[in-house]
Amino acid sequence: MEVVIVQDATAGGELIAESIATLLRRKRDALIGVATGSSPLPIYQALTAKVASGAVDASGARIAQLDEYVGLPAGHPESYRSVVLREVVRPLGLDESAFMGPDGSADDILAACEAYDRALAAAGGVDLQLLGIGTDGHIGFNEPVSSLASRTRIKTLTEQTRVDNARFFEGDIEQVPHHVITQGIGTILEARHLVLLATGEGKAEAVAQTVEGPLAALVPASALQLHPHATVVVDEAAASKLKLADYYRATFAAKPEWQGL
Ligand code: F6R
Repeated sequence: MEVVIVQDATAGGELIAESIATLLRRKRDALIGVATGSSPLPIYQALTAKVASGAVDASGARIAQLDEYVGLPAGHPESYRSVVLREVVRPLGLDESAFMGPDGSADDILAACEAYDRALAAAGGVDLQLLGIGTDGHIGFNEPVSSLASRTRIKTLTEQTRVDNARFFEGDIEQVPHHVITQGIGTILEARHLVLLATGEGKAEAVAQTVEGPLAALVPASALQLHPHATVVVDEAAASKLKLADYYRATFAAKPEWQGL
């Protein structure tokens, strides 16, 4: 696992956006897996700026959603489908046909989950998966004690996650759905490159356990330790509980630029 400590969220967004741009220059129809929430927004803004300036052509990119609330009416502004279309697909100038995601309003949720895993595989698999991390260590919506081999399925959000996400629902926890569809940890681990961005002190404990703690279902993000190409980008605040922070800094500073992330 590579840990990169950046000054702030903007620097993290720029670094990761450049990595996506490099991928798109090599593979113009790369399948980019996207997370929602606040953390990845600087990535999407930086990537959109690169597309606008002509630094990268993203017109062949394909976008895959990581997770989705269950039970929000179609078109709800906080459904993750709406968020990804608003924050990623449209700003990059892509057509909706370039986007795939699980159907959180399906009558048969089980079938929708299985269909999404099949669709990801049929699309050739995710080339680069962006991840955030919950304060409880979740990735996607794989809450603590999720199976490390799990596939896309329905999960129940913890109270903590519903509290954390109430800010997207007028601060009203009652509006935050209890259930979600999420790519499983096993599904996420099939992506060719995992890139997690965490910012702010509130993520410091979860980051430390993910990177330096034991592999444990209690901390779902620790599954990144199993992946051959996992990158964790953190700002100074989110890095504040890492024991080997100086080592990560020195390693990245000495890394040849051609290697990228
Ligand atoms: C959402 C997702 C979640 C978030 C996590 C952190 O698609 O994958 O794991 O990344 O809840 O959310 P923020 O970034 O809002 O703190």
